[in-house]
Amino acid sequence: MSKKEWKTYHPSGGKRVVVTKMLPGERWLEILFNAGCRVEVCLSQDILRADEIAAAIGHRCDGAIGQLTEDWDEVLFATLKAAGGRVYSNYAVGFNNVDLVAANRHGIPIGNTPGVLTETTAEMAVALTFATARRVVEADAFMRGGHYRGWLPTLFLGNLMKGGTVGVIGVGRIGAVYARMMVEGFKMNLIYFDLYPNKELEDYIADYGEFLKSRGEMPVTCTRADSVEAVLQTADVVSLHPVLDETTRHLINTARLNLMKESAILVNASRGPVIDEAALVAHCQKHPNFRVGLDVFEDEPEMKPGLNQLANVVMVPHIASATGWTREGMAMLAARNVAGILQGYPAWPDQHNILPFLGRNPPPAAPSIVNAEEVGVPAYSA
Ligand code: DGY
Repeated sequence: MSKKEWKTYHPSGGKRVVVTKMLPGERWLEILFNAGCRVEVCLSQDILRADEIAAAIGHRCDGAIGQLTEDWDEVLFATLKAAGGRVYSNYAVGFNNVDLVAANRHGIPIGNTPGVLTETTAEMAVALTFATARRVVEADAFMRGGHYRGWLPTLFLGNLMKGGTVGVIGVGRIGAVYARMMVEGFKMNLIYFDLYPNKELEDYIADYGEFLKSRGEMPVTCTRADSVEAVLQTADVVSLHPVLDETTRHLINTARLNLMKESAILVNASRGPVIDEAALVAHCQKHPNFRVGLDVFEDEPEMKPGLNQLANVVMVPHIASATGWTREGMAMLAARNVAGILQGYPAWPDQHNILPFLGRNPPPAAPSIVNAEEVGVPAYSA
């Protein structure tokens, strides 16, 4: 295995920060320089193994920024702690790759990057919905293959979204924005499942329904289902937005796929293991009118055998948050998490209001520390 190339920025910085992938933009580096950090960045695009990350941490490391493709577990946190590490930030909003119990045991604050990828990720879920509903990828391949002989009444028939029912499982930040985009944009009725009701979303859709009525149009409706099954049975398109944990691993399995309509659409831009991917392949093979849009995969970067042979599946390589603005924003938030803790700042308490951290004069706080309470980082108060 070849040795990965690393580059050091601001070598005179007194605090050493290890970053396992080059991040976009320049502001994140500036933030770390201004906090007195020397920054060592891995330039390789290969996913680093745990032993390579541990070697990079070495004997002295104050903080680290890592990726969702790396397992930050007991061994890495013990290594970071022994090297004098005081903070780790994931370059992602999701942190299922981080062993929080281990981080808490070692007293290491863990950062993530919420708020800047909500709309971006929801937009990709919408893109996958329509790419599958209207068979955009199949039709594109048809054109490129030189098969188009002229307009036909039955060429690439797809599914109309307007007036149908959209199902959302998990209406946190991203799920709720996807729901609104589909309801407002395409006048779909919403059915959702979440452990907690989303009153704000329900009120918004009720108001929008009244607005439509006042214009003489059919109002839209919002129903909170009491089970995942009810959503799957009812909806024409289902988008998955739960966090990945032991309760949501293989949430979508053979039995639940069998509950879905024959020509339903299933979209996943959350985490791959939420779907039993082998079961999904079998279901799609049996039901050619069932369509699927995937941004994430159970064993990334691998795909289960047969998945890439299916015409009724559209796939993109985990790029739902991949816009320049979002990825630069994520880099700034990860840098501010690390810089903030290394400067002794408290934790910002409001994850719904993270945008001040993208400006030039952010509050003196670490924007998003998910275990602040557990590791004793006080909350910021103005
Ligand atoms: C995240 O931040 O969790 C996303 O999956 C990255 O796109």
